Amino acid sequence: MKILVTGGTGYIGSHTVVELQNEGYEVVIIDNLSNSDRTVVDSIAEITNHVPVFEELDLVDRAATFACIEKHKDIVGVIHFAALKAVGESVEKPLLYYYNNLTSLINLLLAMQKFDLQNFVFSSSCTVYGQPDQLPVGEQAPLKKAESPYGNTKKISEDIIRDSVDAGSMNAISLRYFNPIGAHDTALIGELPLGVPNNLVPYITQTAIGKRDHLKIFGKDYSTHDGTAIRDYIHVVDLARAHVVAVKRMLQGNSKIPFEIFNLGTGNGFTVLEVIKAFEKVSGEKLNYQFTGRRKGDIEKVWADTSFANQELGWKAALGLEEMMLSAWNWELALSNRFT
Ligand code: NAD
Ligand code: UD1
Repeated sequence: MKILVTGGTGYIGSHTVVELQNEGYEVVIIDNLSNSDRTVVDSIAEITNHVPVFEELDLVDRAATFACIEKHKDIVGVIHFAALKAVGESVEKPLLYYYNNLTSLINLLLAMQKFDLQNFVFSSSCTVYGQPDQLPVGEQAPLKKAESPYGNTKKISEDIIRDSVDAGSMNAISLRYFNPIGAHDTALIGELPLGVPNNLVPYITQTAIGKRDHLKIFGKDYSTHDGTAIRDYIHVVDLARAHVVAVKRMLQGNSKIPFEIFNLGTGNGFTVLEVIKAFEKVSGEKLNYQFTGRRKGDIEKVWADTSFANQELGWKAALGLEEMMLSAWNWELALSNRFT
């Protein structure tokens, strides 16, 4: 059975392609390589002994998108990762974000409609909850005003998908990721942040390897046990596996309603200092860090209520914080060997 993975050479997409191929699916990747590299296809093939089909195209190009879907009309499911995702950049260039993320989605849904494809999985984010009123946060929690144009594209995308499902015969699942970190245990694929990373874990590993002088911890006066902010970090391989489960659920006709939404987290919250401690333990490196003020737009704490996803999907995150940090560190070491 053939699955289309948009954004399949990206961070989460590449790990998902590996898990799909490991389960025997044929994979077609669409990516415009705006935030990834063609060599990722070779790395996927090295891990799985199977070369995925790679179609380099921009999903904002409707004609090219239609032609590609027509060529692969036997696709039974679509997992849509392709999007721009840098929060800060989205504040500076909102139109780029709305144009890329929403036009891509609409073109893809139009193509699915035209060629009668049924099953759609979408990459959403816990950012739609903002700072939740209650923790852990469940899927029914009210959505908050988005802090950034990027976050808003996720809210709007969920609305677009819901309306499309209501109007047609398509099934969809939106997966709201908490904080994906880590890399494949082969260290052949992982996150490739361009320039200075915004996210915590790549910043930690780049500091430890010497690419950055020190990590700045944003805020030490949060109302948490050590004063630093709390997130629900999830291993990217656990996250990838959840996508395979979601696709299978739709293929087997097990969806309870045509548009389902699930949280993908571990259900455990860790502070920034706890993440650093786990990193230092598994790597044996002492991290250079300093405290600084809070980052604008950051929330204090969030972690997932995973009971609905665990029960309905029969999926549970299995890998712990130390495994996440060790795989992230091994990936950073592999990258430094690759480029020296
Ligand atoms: P990524 O940037 O590594 O991967 C996204 C891929 O999409 C890239 O390879 C990029 O080249 C491609 N792409 C972007 N626009 C495209 C277009 N118009 N046409 C074709 N390809 C295009 O990002 P990621 O971390 O793997 O994220 C995957 C998805 O998950 C995104 O939708 C992101 O918003 C969402 N998400 C990510 C996180 C996270 O922390 N990484 C958290 C929540 C949600
Ligand atoms: C980021 C995105 C959010 C996205 C989420 C999941 C921003 C503002 N938000 O959120 O939209 O849904 O990832 O991918 O980018 N930290 C430091 N120093 C650093 C970097 C981070 O102290 O150099 C702290 C942050 O303040 C936060 C924690 O580490 O408390 C995690 O930060 P980050 O990895 O950027 O993720 P989020 O802020 O959760």
